Amino acid sequence: MATKNNPFIVTGKIAPEYFCDRVIESKRLVKTITNGRNLVVISPRRMGKTGLVQYCYDHSEIADNYYTFFIDILHTTSLREFTYLFGREVFATFASKSRKMAMSFVQAIKSISGKFGIDPMTALPTFNLQLGDIDRPEYTLEEIFRYLSEADKPCIVAFDEFQQIAKYPENNIEAILRTHIQKLQNCNFIFAGSERHMMQEMFTVSARPFYLSADILELNAIPMEIYVPFIVGLFESRGRNIMPEIATKVYTLFKGHTYYIQKTFNEAFANTAEGETCTLSVVQAAIEEMIDSSDTLFREILSNIPEKQKSLLYAIALEGECRHITSAVFVRKHNLISASAVQSAVKKLMEKDHVTVVNKVYSLTNKLFALWINKIYGIGIYLPE
Ligand SMILES: Nc1ncnc2c1ncn2[C@@H]1O[C@H](COP(=O)(O)OP(=O)(O)O)[C@@H](O)[C@H]1O
Ligand SMILES: [Mg+2]
Repeated sequence: MATKNNPFIVTGKIAPEYFCDRVIESKRLVKTITNGRNLVVISPRRMGKTGLVQYCYDHSEIADNYYTFFIDILHTTSLREFTYLFGREVFATFASKSRKMAMSFVQAIKSISGKFGIDPMTALPTFNLQLGDIDRPEYTLEEIFRYLSEADKPCIVAFDEFQQIAKYPENNIEAILRTHIQKLQNCNFIFAGSERHMMQEMFTVSARPFYLSADILELNAIPMEIYVPFIVGLFESRGRNIMPEIATKVYTLFKGHTYYIQKTFNEAFANTAEGETCTLSVVQAAIEEMIDSSDTLFREILSNIPEKQKSLLYAIALEGECRHITSAVFVRKHNLISASAVQSAVKKLMEKDHVTVVNKVYSLTNKLFALWINKIYGIGIYLPE
């Protein structure tokens, strides 16, 4: 069981003392935004995009001079939902500043003004709208942007999991948003996204509305030389010990993936009493538990992958990292049909973001998924003593 004193944060906001590194990335983010540009932040899921943006929002340079908004659109499937979440976030932010701002926002959003409730205790408007209350999302969206453009301070708007808009059924959303964003003088935008392929296409293909509209920051793993001492230090700050070698093993196993490292050490810390040393077996048990608890999720994912792609997925997972996946050696070793079958399968797997290629090296995007496959189909040994 995790305790309140656990310094390995895995949910919610991270206080600066528990936030590891990101020195260069946060400088770049703050500099880009405060100089009037927009920024795209791309990384695999749970590498730390949201954490980075929120960490930067707390920098005094930003906190003291800007209104900041953060909208996670991962689960949205239409412009209506997008507009709803955006409106709710803008309202909540202004309402937390002053009564006057809450009122002026409601009045400005004429298309839905009548739908706001009033809190009988405070006499303040409340955002108790239903999705269906937004019957003209394009128009409401325009009103929200217009309101922001007249705010008494500049604004920073972060859309998290922005690639989602490319999946909405309406096919002109990118163009609509781009037009608004281009017009706003006093707003800058952060577009964070986990699906590299889709994000890159949106911002680097010349036919797309967002082409070249933002700088791109690829958020990589926190370097091992920084993460390992950070982990050891957090244990020591609570009267516990851990050998740097153990932290290094976990780092290597997950290729530096932030969430899995945080999660492993959150659990391992919880199982290490004060005055004790966190052992390899404690860490191993924590990883084992994490793998097992994702069982249903991974099976569900596999059930949606066609067999040819699955064979290749397993092959890459078993190898960990591999280069020449269309070579005769690789095809034969893993009983794959042919080089061309591998080629078309890997294309699909990359489109769905199951597989990532960096410098011609292929690996599974989700490192825990790779471990799980190894546990089920492979040798199932990790973290050797
Ligand atoms: N720099 C960091 N130091 C410590 N923990 C972090 C850091 N960045 C992210 N985390 C943790 O890693 C997990 C994933 O981060 P998150 O920002 O939600 O990723 P993303 O937005 O890329 O999906 C969260 O549990 C968060 O608490
Ligand atoms: Mg996120």
